[in-house]
Amino acid sequence: MRSLAAVVVVPLVVVVALAVVSVPIASSTVAGVAPTSAPWVTITNIGDPLYQQVANFALLIHTFVFKEKLSLVQVVSGSVQAIGVGNNYSLLLRAANGTGSVGRYLTEVWGVPGSTERTWKVLSFERVAGN
Ligand SMILES: *[C@@H]1O[C@H](CO)[C@@H](O)[C@H](O)[C@H]1NC(C)=O
Ligand SMILES: *[C@@H]1O[C@H](CO)[C@@H](O)[C@H](O)[C@H]1NC(C)=O
Repeated sequence: MRSLAAVVVVPLVVVVALAVVSVPIASSTVAGVAPTSAPWVTITNIGDPLYQQVANFALLIHTFVFKEKLSLVQVVSGSVQAIGVGNNYSLLLRAANGTGSVGRYLTEVWGVPGSTERTWKVLSFERVAGN
């Protein structure tokens, strides 16, 4: 009887564990973000001065933090995600370093367009392949 009880208990524990674990896995796999986040939308008007500003802001923070001056060459592409009162911007950009060598960088920035009350934040900034 002891072994029968164990057979019944084990599957129940496994099912409960799977149910608890599968909720965050499922939601994060689908969108890559918390369930309350809006979807990422491809930016179609990438030439808009707003995106130049966002890219320049990321480069400014990078220069400030890493003491490596990078100048914007071009915002290549990007996408935007509504987050609360603001937006997350994911931008692929080309920038030149101090000797004019151009590289590609991927940055994610959070901010509220037109707001002077909220500080913009650079969430990530990384060198990616290509020039
Ligand atoms: C978007 O911005 C929020 C707020 O800054 C941040 O917590 C979140 O991680 C960002 N989303 C993604 C997918 O990076
Ligand atoms: C610019 O980038 C090139 C290629 O990565 C590198 O060789 C050079 O040292 C860099 N110059 C500066 C000033 O960082």
